[in-house]
Amino acid sequence: MSVFEYVGGELHAESVSVTQLAESYGTPLYIYSRRALREQYAALADALADVSPLICYSVKANSNGAVIREFLDRGAGADVVSGGELFRALRAGADPAKIVFAGVGKTREEIVYALKENILFFTVESESEAMRIEDCARETGRIGRIAFRVNPDVDPQTHQYITTGKKENKFGLDRERVVQACREAVRLPHVQIVGLHMHIGSQILSAAPFAEALARVADLCETIRAFCRDFRYLDLGGGIGIPYQPGETPLDVADYAGRMLPLLKKTGLNVVVEPGRFLAGPAGIMVCRVQVVKNNAFKKFIVVDAGMNDMIRPSLYGAYQDIVAVRETEDRVFGDVVGPVCESGDFLAKDRDLPAASENDLLVVKDAGAYGFSMASNYNSRPRPAEIMVDGSRVIPIRNRETIEDLVRNET
Ligand code: LLP
Repeated sequence: MSVFEYVGGELHAESVSVTQLAESYGTPLYIYSRRALREQYAALADALADVSPLICYSVKANSNGAVIREFLDRGAGADVVSGGELFRALRAGADPAKIVFAGVGKTREEIVYALKENILFFTVESESEAMRIEDCARETGRIGRIAFRVNPDVDPQTHQYITTGKKENKFGLDRERVVQACREAVRLPHVQIVGLHMHIGSQILSAAPFAEALARVADLCETIRAFCRDFRYLDLGGGIGIPYQPGETPLDVADYAGRMLPLLKKTGLNVVVEPGRFLAGPAGIMVCRVQVVKNNAFKKFIVVDAGMNDMIRPSLYGAYQDIVAVRETEDRVFGDVVGPVCESGDFLAKDRDLPAASENDLLVVKDAGAYGFSMASNYNSRPRPAEIMVDGSRVIPIRNRETIEDLVRNET
């Protein structure tokens, strides 16, 4: 049973009425289900149990400390991409020995911070970055553990903005070059090559590209291991997609595991995965309130109080986010759900069959737990929404709504 169900014609988050939450906390509002966070984690951990992976939750998907903590409590580590995310993960209680740090442009400050915290490893995207880590490690008297990121050149069949493992992308090093980079970096006294990393893209709905990428790097691990005695991790990155559209076929994690496990076991390496969307996406919704329903000569616009600053996925990727009414209705209309932001790119749904809604009705954007709040901004000087965690009938506020004073707090 889904955690977001109609009870007596009213949408509930676990046992709590969404209408009540919207009335108490205002809109737009992000609501997460603790049960769903746990279920998603358990589904992935169970599927991969045979290789006992280290699951490093990708903090960028949803960086609220309460969400991070939910996964840490189940044994997860964290995948971070900035000093800010490292700070958030540590503050939530992450074990530094379970933190990996990715990104093509880490600054010296970020590297030194992570070295001092003694994280598990950096994923490294260029030879010069390995040198930079060597320098920082020497200066701070530490050893930098690294895993070069290999770009396996496979097409993950997803949106071009979130495709990362094709040769034309800025990420990683190609297969020949990664071996060469390891041969050079193995001589650096303050750097230890502990593994190999890849991440081919996000919102991938078929197991095939993952399996293809793995097949392309498994033999590289053998080669590198022969001359790197500390080599022991294979980090597969994230990317497991979730169904956003009704009727869309989800990526079956059992299928993903079935295709990956035999090869992974053969490598004998410790497996790391970095899921973000799969863990947090289905566990969240964003509630908004209809302000105006406007018809022009061509179509109907349902204008809500959430804009592209609150949820940017439809505007940025043309992403489909399912929209349902909080009060169950059979009546449908055709049109757009748009926000108040002064751009025509500000929409949550475009040319869609939608629940009929009138002024003051509540609408819900589903599957908003990942890359929802974490990508929110203050554009148009709009304070960012509040976030709530629901656990059965318990309601736990996990972030206050920003105020208009917050908007100018750092101005001097
Ligand atoms: N590891 C690395 C190195 C990554 O770059 C990412 C995501 C992940 C793990 C987690 O990927 P996931 O399991 O969540 O697919 N804002 C976009 C998604 C951007 C993903 C960026 N990297 C969206 O809303 O679709």
